[in-house]
Amino acid sequence: MKGIVLAGGSGTRLFPLTLATSKQLLAVYNKPMVYYPLSVLMLAGVRDILIISTPSAIPDMRSLLGDGSKLGLNLSYAVQNEPRGIADAFLIGARHIDGDDTALVLGDNLFHGSGFPELLRGARDSLDGCTLFGCPVPDPERYGIGEVDSAGVLLSIEEKPSRPRSDKAITGLYLYDGAVVDIARGLSPSPRGELEVTDVNRAYLERGRARLIELGRGQRWYDCGTHDSLLAASRYVQSMEKRRGERVACLEEIALQMGFIDAEACYRLGAGMRQSAYGRHLTEIASSMGGALRHDSAA
Ligand code: TTP
Repeated sequence: MKGIVLAGGSGTRLFPLTLATSKQLLAVYNKPMVYYPLSVLMLAGVRDILIISTPSAIPDMRSLLGDGSKLGLNLSYAVQNEPRGIADAFLIGARHIDGDDTALVLGDNLFHGSGFPELLRGARDSLDGCTLFGCPVPDPERYGIGEVDSAGVLLSIEEKPSRPRSDKAITGLYLYDGAVVDIARGLSPSPRGELEVTDVNRAYLERGRARLIELGRGQRWYDCGTHDSLLAASRYVQSMEKRRGERVACLEEIALQMGFIDAEACYRLGAGMRQSAYGRHLTEIASSMGGALRHDSAA
C-alpha cells in the first residue's frame, strides 16, 4: 500500500497564523502538525509515502523530514500549485500510486487512541474498494456524514445535512484500491472548482464497494483547521503525554516499534535532540532496548 499526506491548502480559517507559514508545520503541542498524519500511515505499515504541499511549504517539509531514511521510510514530495481539491491528490500522485492500494490522510488530521493501530491494520488487510473512517460527532450538520448498514457498508454520504441520517462524520483518512486514480480522472470539478473527495467516495458507494469503520470508544479524531480545534488537539496531546505518559505521533518511537529502524538508530536520533524532553524520551526507550549500549560502544 502507498501513502499520501495531503498537506497543502490555504489555511484561511487559521489566519493570521498561516499568513506566512504552512498550517501543517504549526505546532500541535510539541511537534509539527504533519507528524500526526504521518504517524497514521506508519502505524498502518505504509513506508512509501508522498507528501503533497504548496510550492512555498515544500522546502520546509523537506528540511523537516528529508527522504525519510532516518525513519526507515521512503518519502517523496510533490507540489500542488493551487488548492484544486482533495481528490486532486490522486492526479498529482498517480505515478506514485502506480496501480497499488493507497492510504490518503489529510495533513491537519490527528487520530489516536487505544486499538487504533489494530483497527487501521485490519482495515488495510481487508480493503475491498474504499474504506472510510467515521467518528461520532455532536453536531453532524457541520460535517460530511456517512450512513452505514449493520455490516458497515456505506449507504449514503451527505454533506453538512440539515437533517442528518447519522452522527458519523467522515474523517480525513481514506483507503482506496488501485481504481482510485481512474475514478479521480473521471471527476468534474465542483462549483467551487475543486475535485471533491466526496465524489470519489460516491463512485465507490454506487458500486457497493465503500465501507465506513467507526472509530471505537477511546479513539479520538481532531481536524486542526480552526484556532479552537488546534488548541483542543494540543491539549489532548499534552494530557496524553503528561498525565498518561503515552507519546502521540512520536515518529522515531513508532519507527522503532514497527521495526523500520533499530534501537541504535533511534538512540542516535534522540541524542541529536537531547535538549528536549522529546529527544530524551527517545534515548530512554532506545536504551531500554539496548540501543545506547551498542551506540556507545560504536562511538
Ligand atoms: P481544508 O481544511 O478544507 O482547507 P484549508 O486547509 O485550505 O483551510 P481553510 O478552509 O481554513 O482555508 O483542507 C483539509 C486538508 O486538506 C488540509 O490539510 C489541506 C488539505 N488540502 C490540500 O492540500 N489541497 C486542497 O486542494 C484542499 C482542498 C485541501
